[in-house]
Amino acid sequence: MSVQSSIKRKTAPDIRARKHGEPIVMLTSYHAHTAALVDRHCDVILVGDSLGNVMHGFETTVPVTLDMMILQGHAVMRGSKHALVVVDMPFGSYEASKEQAFHSAVRILKETHCGAVKLEGGVRMAETVAFLSERGVPVMGHIGLTPQSINTLGSFRAQGRDEGSWDPILKDAQAISDAGAFSVVVEAVAEPLARKITETIAIPTIGIGASAACDGQVLVLEDMLGLSPRTPKFVRRYGNLGPAIETAIQGYASDVRSRAFPGPEHVYEMKKS
Ligand code: KIV
Repeated sequence: MSVQSSIKRKTAPDIRARKHGEPIVMLTSYHAHTAALVDRHCDVILVGDSLGNVMHGFETTVPVTLDMMILQGHAVMRGSKHALVVVDMPFGSYEASKEQAFHSAVRILKETHCGAVKLEGGVRMAETVAFLSERGVPVMGHIGLTPQSINTLGSFRAQGRDEGSWDPILKDAQAISDAGAFSVVVEAVAEPLARKITETIAIPTIGIGASAACDGQVLVLEDMLGLSPRTPKFVRRYGNLGPAIETAIQGYASDVRSRAFPGPEHVYEMKKS
């Protein structure tokens, strides 16, 4: 008897087939509960290494480990049913060699059951992307601004503002597409360049701070909900949950201090929120 789930999740080939089609909707999530909410509205859930900033308060994504990604990837898989879940490969888990990348990616796929991995870099990572794709690992690329390289970049700056600087980014996009990635995140890239990349390469582009000229968009969930202490300028806020959460916590603290909370007769009754 088959034990396969009757629910069909989106796959990497489904997302690949959306080139020039209906825009791809993608958000980050790191937890089962937010994953369940995101899952109802998004095609792809990214377990981004931005969890280092958002969940752990690190300044950069450099300290994030493979074990951290696997733990949260597992949680997101438990919380979601429909979306393709993509787990970021953290800094240091794939750059040394294509074999290192394969071992890390296999751990991610086997231990989380997610559908794909994402890694940063263009031309320099193309051989690795081909190695993984040919061996059954669906890869999402990530070009333009690559936050894991912050220590060599020096700062987070938009890429490709003047046409003279386009060439290396175009080459990165082409290399990742030719290597067999099923889609590519294009981060902090000026609109004319994002449009050119999207028109040129065969796979869907998913922009973040790269305009509506891409085949889809991704944002960090906490940024667009108004929960992050600092957000990039390009992020449109769809909520202001930080103050709402603080008001709720204040209400709770005040109830506890005045002993105005429910007694034990209510404790074991679960109600749906
Ligand atoms: O880690 C992350 O959340 C990401 C997105 C910003 C694309 O890589």
